[in-house]
Amino acid sequence: MSTVIVIFGATGDLTARKLIPALYNNFRKKRLPEHVHVIGYGRKPFTSETFRVKMKEAVKAFAAEEYREEEWSAFASHLFYQQGELEGAQHYQSLAQRITGVAGTPNNCLYYLATAPEFSTTIVRQLAEANLLAETSRSGYRRIIVEKPFGRDLPSALALNQELLNVLNENQIYRIDHYLGKETVQNMIVFRFGNAIFEPLWNRNYIDHVQITVSETVGVEYRAGYYDTAGVLRDMFQNHLLQLLTLVAMEPPVAFEANALRNEKVKVLSALREISPEHSAVATVRAQYEGYTREEGVAPNSKTETFVALRLFVDNWRWQGVPFYLRSGKMMKDKASEITVQFRRPPTQILDTQAGKTELFTNRLTICIQPDEGIHLRFIAKVPDQGMETRPVEMDFDFRNSFGSKAIPEAYERLLLDALNGDASLFARSDEIELAWNLIDGIRAGWESEHASPLLVYKPRSVGPAAADDLLGRDGRWWIHNSELQRGDHPEPGI
Ligand code: BG6
Repeated sequence: MSTVIVIFGATGDLTARKLIPALYNNFRKKRLPEHVHVIGYGRKPFTSETFRVKMKEAVKAFAAEEYREEEWSAFASHLFYQQGELEGAQHYQSLAQRITGVAGTPNNCLYYLATAPEFSTTIVRQLAEANLLAETSRSGYRRIIVEKPFGRDLPSALALNQELLNVLNENQIYRIDHYLGKETVQNMIVFRFGNAIFEPLWNRNYIDHVQITVSETVGVEYRAGYYDTAGVLRDMFQNHLLQLLTLVAMEPPVAFEANALRNEKVKVLSALREISPEHSAVATVRAQYEGYTREEGVAPNSKTETFVALRLFVDNWRWQGVPFYLRSGKMMKDKASEITVQFRRPPTQILDTQAGKTELFTNRLTICIQPDEGIHLRFIAKVPDQGMETRPVEMDFDFRNSFGSKAIPEAYERLLLDALNGDASLFARSDEIELAWNLIDGIRAGWESEHASPLLVYKPRSVGPAAADDLLGRDGRWWIHNSELQRGDHPEPGI
């Protein structure tokens, strides 16, 4: 049986930077199905030959693995292009003919919607009308991968889910969040549930708080058209940061299997305390980097936030009272995605407190998602030859040292394979998306209310506005800049 992957939005950036390089790498590793055909679908008047030339450049530029001409040629023979509009039944009939022409029938079909979100409904409806989504006992599977953003608020996400579920079953739908495809994020699951020693400590009795930081050094780049209508809360929190939070906070699932995992994540999302408008000012900070409104394509009076920090609580038995501080921003000082689990202090201080720096006597686990992928556990050691002077030291696990430099494939490689293999564990289910939007919509409502604190401005290449420090400072805590600590250029504040 042959397998066809149709990429809608084939001339776009995602296809060139991520999808084709990921497929190429999977092909090199002999992980794609045997009779696979990739059809790029787009409006531009390309032939398959011109598409291949463009994709070859993309693979050279973006595939993590070494480029080899003979491997490319072998892969390119599986690559085709179909010109067509996104509206209009005739285009989908042509696509149906093309699929049969290229791959014969019956086939497995995976449709990848790498298109702007407003087209998702149209594409899915038209595919259904052209009978390209129906799974019969004789045909193979029909699956669809939907890129983020999945809606722009709860009502639009509900409507999109409804549209999809009108013509597909939930198990045919793969809502992508590329953070879940990152090796280091998957390793969180292994770390938590493959190591028994941390589990007894993983709760409100031993953990003081959790920090999740995703900071980027890039600005809005060439994506102002989308980004200026979205902002960082929709772009990063609704999906990536909340997904990371669920993996830190969830209960052990009964199996490593899509529904079991997703059930546990949904429980966390349903336990997240909503931020009411009255609490908006104490639980949220939003800011825009200086110069954002001068970026190409950004409205000159734009009030879109490019940095957000939040304080969240998971109202369940395990996490009652433990704050989860989340922050993400563009144009920040460092590119770093990391999770810090800060353990409580020992109940009594019998050791030298180094002139009152009691915060040094704490254990801390840092999970570095990128760059410098690894896990660091901080504990306290005695400085040799100095009475009983103590100092924090780190136990380090570094992915590249342990597994070699080729050990970290791109997230899309894994996710595309999982979708081809019918494993939805690392994709979001409709209820996860809806619960996440519910929280985000509440925060946005607070920002539009009379209780809102103003949109702040922060300097490019900084750690964000000072108000983000106050968010933790009010609770007697501070952001841990792990990458800076490792470079040794950011002393920790005293309490
Ligand atoms: C995307 C966002 O989902 O994730 C981008 O739309 C962001 O704005 C990107 O830059 C970050 O991904 P990564 O893998 O570089 O951390």
